[in-house]
Amino acid sequence: MQQRKALLLGATGLTGSLLLDRLLESELYSSVTIYVRKATGRSHPKLIEECIDFDTIQTAVEADDVFCCLGTTIKTAKTREAFSKVDLHYPVKIARLQLDAGSKRFLAISSMGANPHSMVFYSRTKGLMEEALQRMDYPSLYIFRPSFIVGNRTEKRAGEKMAIRITDWINPLLAGPLRNYASVKATAIADAMLHYATQGQSGNHCILSGTIKNFE
Ligand SMILES: NC(=O)c1ccc[n+]([C@@H]2O[C@H](COP(=O)([O-])OP(=O)(O)OC[C@H]3O[C@@H](n4cnc5c(N)ncnc54)[C@H](OP(=O)(O)O)[C@@H]3O)[C@@H](O)[C@H]2O)c1
Repeated sequence: MQQRKALLLGATGLTGSLLLDRLLESELYSSVTIYVRKATGRSHPKLIEECIDFDTIQTAVEADDVFCCLGTTIKTAKTREAFSKVDLHYPVKIARLQLDAGSKRFLAISSMGANPHSMVFYSRTKGLMEEALQRMDYPSLYIFRPSFIVGNRTEKRAGEKMAIRITDWINPLLAGPLRNYASVKATAIADAMLHYATQGQSGNHCILSGTIKNFE
């Protein structure tokens, strides 16, 4: 087996931290670089932690596969500009730097309903990220479009508890194409990202929430 090197963005988040566990455990990867804002204190023989300034980064690392689990909320970011940095500009800039440096696969979490022409700012931003990534001609690009993500989040988000209760009740009713609207476990997204990276089929691929749920 030809081992690969990975770069992971968003390794401190709900989905990113689960993906980090999987990448470190996987025999496919000989090293996993994470870009973080501040030191995590985590150590592992395969882990390379880089504290970077996402606004000014102009360099790439050696990585075959790049995973992007970056994201924020308007509430946290406070302005549309700050939100766009995290959910659009950072992923696109790092994707470009890594492609130019020889990365072969890019796997990014977007969102259900992403559309560059959407009237909804969040969906439009995610759609613009997808569009920019698709134009880059990565040898292999996977975009994941989860619905509402559930998992053990340390940060408390307003309304999240209630949303989880509602989705617990509603999920069993969502079958067929409606399955894309059911909430999805963060563990399933992490498993799906590793699975599709391993497959690494050429071209651009969009993995909908209903398909991610097959990994639950
Ligand atoms: N949550 C949902 O229901 C939902 C639904 C659909 C799609 N999504 C998308 O799925 C992806 C993963 O979601 P998640 O809930 O697992 O993410 P999350 O727990 O909110 O984690 C977000 C990650 O992005 C990093 N980040 C945030 N602001 C940053 C900044 N200004 N500069 C650098 N890094 C920053 C965080 O780092 P720090 O630890 O340094 O803050 C963290 O590692 C995101 O793209 C999200 O938009 C989420």
